[in-house]
Amino acid sequence: MKRCSIATIICAIISTVCCCDVVKLTFPSGFSLGAASAAYQIEGAWNVSDKGENVWDYYTHHYPEIISEGRNGDVACNSYYKYKEDVELIKSTGFDFYRFSVSWSRVLPTGFANVISEDGLQYYKNLTAELVANGIEPVVTIYHWDHPQVIEEMGGWTNELIVDWFVAYARVLFEALGGSVKRWVTINEPDSFCGEGYESTRLAPGKVITGIGKYLCGHNVLKAHAKTYRMYEEEFRDSQGGVIGIVLPLSGHLPYNSSYADAAETGFQFNCGWMAHPIYFGDYPEIMKTRVALVSESQGYPRSRLPEFSDEWKAIINGTSDYFGLNHYTSRFVYNDPDEELGIYNSDSGLISVVDSSWPMASSSWFYVYPEGFGYLLRKIRDEYGNPSTWIMENGYSDTDNLEDYERISYYYEYLKEMLIAVKRDGCNVEGYAVWSILDNFEWSDGYTNRFGIIRVEFDDADTNRTTKLSQAWWKKVLSKRKLQSVPTSTTSTNTRTRLPWQK
Ligand SMILES: *[C@@H]1O[C@H](CO)[C@@H](O)[C@H](O)[C@H]1NC(C)=O
Ligand SMILES: *[C@@H]1O[C@H](CO)[C@@H](O)[C@H](O)[C@H]1NC(C)=O
Ligand SMILES: *[C@@H]1O[C@H](CO)[C@@H](O)[C@H](O)[C@H]1NC(C)=O
Ligand SMILES: *[C@@H]1O[C@H](CO)[C@@H](O)[C@H](O)[C@H]1NC(C)=O
Ligand SMILES: *[C@@H]1O[C@H](CO)[C@@H](O)[C@H](O)[C@H]1NC(C)=O
Repeated sequence: MKRCSIATIICAIISTVCCCDVVKLTFPSGFSLGAASAAYQIEGAWNVSDKGENVWDYYTHHYPEIISEGRNGDVACNSYYKYKEDVELIKSTGFDFYRFSVSWSRVLPTGFANVISEDGLQYYKNLTAELVANGIEPVVTIYHWDHPQVIEEMGGWTNELIVDWFVAYARVLFEALGGSVKRWVTINEPDSFCGEGYESTRLAPGKVITGIGKYLCGHNVLKAHAKTYRMYEEEFRDSQGGVIGIVLPLSGHLPYNSSYADAAETGFQFNCGWMAHPIYFGDYPEIMKTRVALVSESQGYPRSRLPEFSDEWKAIINGTSDYFGLNHYTSRFVYNDPDEELGIYNSDSGLISVVDSSWPMASSSWFYVYPEGFGYLLRKIRDEYGNPSTWIMENGYSDTDNLEDYERISYYYEYLKEMLIAVKRDGCNVEGYAVWSILDNFEWSDGYTNRFGIIRVEFDDADTNRTTKLSQAWWKKVLSKRKLQSVPTSTTSTNTRTRLPWQK
């Protein structure tokens, strides 16, 4: 009796202090867990049947020196032929959904909707049917960076005509797959392919149009996204009943110290607000309009390099999101560039981004591990956009090929813990989460050197065999228990971080 009541008291104290539900690190009921991939990174079969050439086919074939080891996605994971095995792996791991993307030029060989490839479309019908038959929800990305080369030859995302070509392509997919697909992503990561594809050579098409290319691309991305959303709303929503959104690549932008709250806000608006503010509020963020105009003027441009929307376009774009989609990997501390006090503008945002020397690195050059940045970002999204239904469409860790991937497991554990705290303690409305990636795959200009899979692929052999990694076994347990599992220990694990004094 006495012992029992002491135990009860202790338990009550612990649960008050720790908030038991969060400590348990279980996923809320109804939370959706999935795995993600993208067409060019896994499919291979680049010239099968009547498939057209896309920008990544062209880029890797014409500029192999830009890609690590001169590699390309001609074969990649061979998923065009191995999709049944992929679905079996997704199923046996226990995922609820699979996010894959469609190759535009596989479905529309000429780039336009005048010719629809029956074989191309059949592949995606087969894949979707296989997923549904195995109880896995298909989530489809319409565009993941691989538009037809013929369209690039006319300027690609810098030509506004791409808007209508994109809408026509999307309509083909809604008609063919919309019976089974209830969650659509229009466009994946505009910040990445607009910034690195039209102002650097890191991504196709590799056109360096400094100061202009990224904003022009993003402007047309917003129009293409919004017109596709409106078309779905008008022609398909009643009969198909799905949801549709865009997916943004978001990093945590945290203040370098407490003097730099405004810098963190500016960093967020330049990264997230650039696309999300027009979609949620009808126009670019004020801070972007002001700053880009100011810096453009200082550079001698007659007008701001940030394009403007007409009132008609603002109305079309405003409100075109059924859920908030984001990919997240890493964070930065930001502070104001001191050069600006001397009237020198080094960047549109006026910020300097740094990392803390204690943050571990993944194998990708840009990738520093800072789990707290994830929770910070989710709370910011909650506050900025009215706590929308939020889907993490990619999160994962890169290494250089390791079956015993303890660091990857540790990354997932720590990032998911931050997410669960954001959801359960802070009320962030996160409803879905996808692992990037189900398989090792073609990591763009990093070729096959940086690997994100929870399943290894033997790229150097024609069989492209799959082998599960330790992280796949960990995920399998997490998915069956719907609860985070402890991280197995390794002798080589090095994840020790210090907190800066102002944190916490
Ligand atoms: C497709 O490309 C491969 C090289 O990746 C080549 O060997 C093959 O002949 C090509 N097939 C066709 C039909 O062009
Ligand atoms: C789709 O499935 C059918 C029936 O299993 C098969 O004959 C066909 O080759 C598949 N097509 C593709 C492109 O995977
Ligand atoms: C923040 O950092 C700046 C630059 O290092 C420094 O001048 C300032 O005093 C710091 N502020 C606080 C509150 O620590
Ligand atoms: C966007 O829509 C919201 C809600 O309907 C409205 O309050 C706001 O004024 C619109 N923004 C613009 C720029 O039209
Ligand atoms: C790939 O897997 C198949 C089927 O398990 C096997 O027969 C083949 O030998 C494997 N290839 C290699 C290179 O390991």
